[in-house]
Amino acid sequence: MSSIMLLPNNASGIARSAELLQLGCLVAFPTETVYGLGADARNDSAVASIYAAKGRPSFNPLIVHLPSQEEAEKHGIFSPLAKKLAKAFWPGPFTLVVERKKDCALSLLVSAGLDSVALRVPANQTAQTLLKEAAIPIAAPSANRSGRISPTLPEHVLEELPEIQILAGGACSVGLESTVVDARGETPVLLRSGSVTPEQIAAICGVMPLLPEANPENFHSPGMLKSHYAPERPVRLNIISPSANEALLAFGHCDIQGEHVLNLSVSGDLTEAAANLFAYLRKLDKPEYTSIAIMPIPQEGLGLAINDRLERAAADRI
Ligand code: TXA
Ligand code: MG
Repeated sequence: MSSIMLLPNNASGIARSAELLQLGCLVAFPTETVYGLGADARNDSAVASIYAAKGRPSFNPLIVHLPSQEEAEKHGIFSPLAKKLAKAFWPGPFTLVVERKKDCALSLLVSAGLDSVALRVPANQTAQTLLKEAAIPIAAPSANRSGRISPTLPEHVLEELPEIQILAGGACSVGLESTVVDARGETPVLLRSGSVTPEQIAAICGVMPLLPEANPENFHSPGMLKSHYAPERPVRLNIISPSANEALLAFGHCDIQGEHVLNLSVSGDLTEAAANLFAYLRKLDKPEYTSIAIMPIPQEGLGLAINDRLERAAADRI
């Protein structure tokens, strides 16, 4: 283990972390819940590298961290319910899912292509200072490799992600991931339990939060096919030559050119491809095309998550 990856929890360590994040690098940092693996939430490639570092086989949407409710409201549309809950539980171990603003500057990848975004204002002092100093929205899932336990100490992060710079802010006081509530409607929907309890939420808004299963209509879980962004046009996978009037989402070398072609990565770089995926799918999803043909993407590294997403988009049609 190398100590070079640990940045001290002082002014210079925080300044260095802020600088790295602004440059598009990943930095793990403490919150009161768990350590997050942070990246500039507006930067598609920085966000794509989060998925690459975690080895996630799919694009789950990520939580975006802000220093205040005021900053958070710049990115999402806050219903009266969302405003109430934010006022009560921020800063703290609490995350709100809201609708993205039309001109939202956040990467579509943090939303995994959805029209919603999860926002959180953490209370941890180091996280607060970092967010203010970096002055950028920071996307961060828990700083562990996919499928492993969330880290609550810098040493845990070092074990999980030895290549990542870590702002070493000591132990997380809560140690359990934040409560996630969808506050787009009139009734809160609890998407993930955490240390803010349903009773505490009910005390603020007058009704118990719905559990996702209790109300499938209101449920926008990223795991559910219905909720996932799927293009309106049919999607055809593993196509080398598109038919007439079909758009083409290319990958790697491609001789076909034109307005109907967008290339995820000419050089065949999977991180670049992931960074472009959702934005390009949306750009090609136009009425002038009958469908969207997708060139084969190698089933390795980030290619697993890209193919997972594309297979869902294709399956949603059936
Ligand atoms: O405590 C925490 O929340 C930590 C710290 C670092 O903030 N972060 C964390 O992130 O646990 P992650 O990526 O491991 O979990 C994000 C959760 C997932 O359950 C995801 O499905 C949900 O938030 N989520 C994110 N965006 C969403 C969206 N647009 N709609 C529905 N659920 C969303
Ligand atoms: Mg996690």
